[in-house]
Amino acid sequence: MTLPPPHTMQAIAISEPGGPEVLKPVEVTVPVPNHGEILIRVAYAGVNRPDALQRAGLYAPPPTASPLPGLEAAGWVAAVGPGVTKWQPGDRVTALLPGGGYAEYAITPEDHALPVPEGIALRDAACLPETCFTVWSNVMIRGGLRAGERFLVHGGASGIGTTAIQMARAIGARVFATAGSPEKCAACEALGAEKAVNYHDEDFVKVMKAEGGAHVILDMVGGDYIQRNVKALADEGRLVQIAFLQGSKAELNFAEVMMRRLTLTGSTLRPQSDLAKARYARHLAKHVWPMVERGTLRPVIDSEFPLIEAAAAHARMESNAHIGKIVLKLA
Ligand SMILES: NC(=O)c1ccc[n+]([C@@H]2O[C@H](COP(=O)([O-])OP(=O)(O)OC[C@H]3O[C@@H](n4cnc5c(N)ncnc54)[C@H](OP(=O)(O)O)[C@@H]3O)[C@@H](O)[C@H]2O)c1
Repeated sequence: MTLPPPHTMQAIAISEPGGPEVLKPVEVTVPVPNHGEILIRVAYAGVNRPDALQRAGLYAPPPTASPLPGLEAAGWVAAVGPGVTKWQPGDRVTALLPGGGYAEYAITPEDHALPVPEGIALRDAACLPETCFTVWSNVMIRGGLRAGERFLVHGGASGIGTTAIQMARAIGARVFATAGSPEKCAACEALGAEKAVNYHDEDFVKVMKAEGGAHVILDMVGGDYIQRNVKALADEGRLVQIAFLQGSKAELNFAEVMMRRLTLTGSTLRPQSDLAKARYARHLAKHVWPMVERGTLRPVIDSEFPLIEAAAAHARMESNAHIGKIVLKLA
């Protein structure tokens, strides 16, 4: 039997913009699901780089979202709002959240939750939504990556990168990655990258040009990578930008875009409409969850921290020493 949710819960809040130390434990009211929403009792919550940006005051949550950090979680449905048809209390779900994952209970639209894939632990399931929604929508939908094409992902050992390598391999693409250490490069190759370039030692533009260019590049770095990505693309190639860790401004000769019929695009997930996210969730259920259940796509877990140590989890992420995902344990 599922017990009714309590009135208050433990959570981690951002006390003020700043470093990991501004993440503080708080006791807050358990949210009540509105029409079409579910309340999840959180077992595990994934930690993502956008959480660190939000904590630093560089990425404001949408006005209707919880101000608590946390974009994904897995656990059990604790209560359903009016009009919910897909879920009932007790169901095991993993979900993309508008915010609020660093808490014992979190709310999300019912269409942004997916069943925990067959054979997957709740901890691993909590690390799927943010990266799978982001990689699918950017690499497959925007980038239009197809089997046999060459795909390059920067930050190959990141949460996003480890997901992108496996997903692109699973659809039959040839995968290349960049990363900042030999250990990270080895991890990318173990996950299915044909070659991982250590950007301290080798120029990814040369490597990709020798292969004939990349058909799709997923980039989170920006800065001087923008020009270099354009050079590394094959004719008709697509550059998909999902972040700018080294800046969003670049000087670019657009003649190359025109002469080689390139596409420059990008997106961020969080501000997109509920309908768009529900559409991605349907794609994931159809195309990606079978990959997870077959074992061709598995979240790579770097480390686990109890909720109370969320600051240590952020410090680990910002050390850039991690490979794959960092996860918070709640239940
Ligand atoms: N657009 C969207 O909707 C969306 C959604 C989710 C995440 N993102 C973005 O995607 C990126 C990856 O997210 P994640 O959660 O997977 O993060 P993550 O695991 O922390 O990975 C970030 C990686 O970027 C590299 N890096 C860090 N700082 C850098 C810098 N200043 N210059 C160049 N490279 C740097 C590091 O790899 P090396 O050590 O190999 O350099 C690190 O592993 C983040 O920038 C995040 O904001 C975007």
